[in-house]
Amino acid sequence: MEFLLRLLLIIVKFSTRILNAVHNAIRGPQQQQKPESSCLPAITNRLLTLSAQELRTQLRSRQLTAVELVTVYIERIKAVNSQLNAVVEDRFEAALLEAAAVDKRIAAAGDVEQLFERQPLLGLPVTVKESCALAGMSFAVGSLARSKMRADSDGAAVGRVRAAGAIPLLVSATPEYCFSIDTDTLLNGRCRNPYDLKRTPGGSSGGEGALNGAGASLFGIGSDIGGSIRIPSLFCGVFGHKPTGGVVSVAGHFPNSDDADFANYLVLGPITRFAVDLALLLEVMAGENASQLHLHDPQPQLGKLRVLFSTAGFVGLNGRMHHTVDRDIKRRMRDALSYLVSIGLQVKRAQLPAGFNNSMEIAMSSIARLQQMPYALGEPTKGSVCETLVQVMRSLLKLSNHTTNALIFDLLRRAKAFMPGQRLEYYQKEAQTLAVELTQMLGEDGVLIFPTMHAAAPLHGWSSLQMWGVDLTLIFNVLGMPVTHVPMGRNRLGLPIGFSVIAAPFQDRLCLRIAVEMEREFGGWRPPSPITLSN
Ligand SMILES: *[C@@H]1O[C@H](CO)[C@@H](O)[C@H](O)[C@H]1NC(C)=O
Ligand SMILES: *[C@@H]1O[C@H](CO)[C@@H](O)[C@H](O)[C@H]1NC(C)=O
Ligand SMILES: *[C@@H]1O[C@H](CO)[C@@H](O)[C@H](O)[C@H]1NC(C)=O
Repeated sequence: MEFLLRLLLIIVKFSTRILNAVHNAIRGPQQQQKPESSCLPAITNRLLTLSAQELRTQLRSRQLTAVELVTVYIERIKAVNSQLNAVVEDRFEAALLEAAAVDKRIAAAGDVEQLFERQPLLGLPVTVKESCALAGMSFAVGSLARSKMRADSDGAAVGRVRAAGAIPLLVSATPEYCFSIDTDTLLNGRCRNPYDLKRTPGGSSGGEGALNGAGASLFGIGSDIGGSIRIPSLFCGVFGHKPTGGVVSVAGHFPNSDDADFANYLVLGPITRFAVDLALLLEVMAGENASQLHLHDPQPQLGKLRVLFSTAGFVGLNGRMHHTVDRDIKRRMRDALSYLVSIGLQVKRAQLPAGFNNSMEIAMSSIARLQQMPYALGEPTKGSVCETLVQVMRSLLKLSNHTTNALIFDLLRRAKAFMPGQRLEYYQKEAQTLAVELTQMLGEDGVLIFPTMHAAAPLHGWSSLQMWGVDLTLIFNVLGMPVTHVPMGRNRLGLPIGFSVIAAPFQDRLCLRIAVEMEREFGGWRPPSPITLSN
């Protein structure tokens, strides 16, 4: 353990408690504050409630046109975005033209089956996180200094989703440089949570979380270097899959880096309301690497899976230094576990390898070691740690051109996670040992049920404090393991909660198998606004 880092952690934990108490004394207990979401319009079109699989069947049998489908999603986006502020830039007109062209091809096709075989996402609308490069669209990634940047070509994964026939509608909001779990920038303002506009949708795929949670996206392309797919999925009540490290190319992403580790930590992956769609989306995004994931092997038999769990997340002293996992989240994890026991699975409390005791050190040192990843404040120079600290203070007083969270992230990297160089190397070795041990423990038939984060979406402005549980997600980027976030209804404040399902590298299908079963049994996504179907 690193003394300085842990001191920081403990200070944050207790300041959060004190600030919470003060906040409650002034504003009344958070429990009594009604979520501010009643203003999101009802979902009135049945198409908005159907999975990509179901819509694909309708398109293929010519019961539905791509123009109809794309129009319905555009209308929904327009209806919710004034409140969510999740869209950075749309391309609705171009999308409608592309949809019309798809309809012509489907109408003219001699062999429709074959057409959809070649292009499994043909005619389906998709939304794209701005950092994933969509040709011709804004590529500012929440930064004032990049405000005029545009992507000159599609990023690799975006290109594959398009080649599979999907039609991009827009690019969605991210924090500055994706360096935050709060999507709130000086450039685009605050993106809001569809379940409670007073709260953050999370980050860094915050725009995707908000749009998917609001039923305004069929599926989104997100990216994740420390929880950026899973955290917004938790806060916005949807499924998000972080694939095995290295399986989905990160070419075209900003930020990027030549560091060999970077392409393992950062991954692109799908965010969607429908667990049943995850495998298809992952397969398309992974391109030729999909064969490594054996997604088409006979479905892993649910009854043969071994389930390990740690509902409290980290345990022992390390666990106590972290924010305590919310009791509603723990309760839903136990509900899920009881169900899995009831259908005959082997369920056991995990004996986490000792390496987990240094989760924060492993997570932070891995990020601090990364070379050539851009800094919001530019390349560090001598004395830049103090300079960055001053910038953090200035940003708190709204005197900076950068967001506080991006600066804190810069600070952590510039200060090398407050550790001497040889300690960085030490934790790196520990991470390698941990990866081997956990991979052995999970094998080809095991999953680990673990909290995604300790709590549901925080109020706007509180994320700098909540960010200190990020090793719960970040450690699995370092270990290269696939993780699916599974939504499990709402907590006592009406906010979405859920948990993570983790498997050994290349065993993504086990995470997806559990996610599909949870969706079937517990209902998956629950809409933030009423569904009143008129058709
Ligand atoms: C497949 O994996 C390799 C190694 O991680 C990576 O370099 C490549 O970009 C991946 N290909 C695709 C299509 O994502
Ligand atoms: C270290 O990890 C072990 C196994 O997970 C746990 O039992 C123990 O309490 C941890 N120790 C500390 C100091 O956190
Ligand atoms: C922010 O950027 C603007 C325009 O580039 C510049 O004029 C201003 O001085 C900057 N402010 C700070 C605090 O750096």
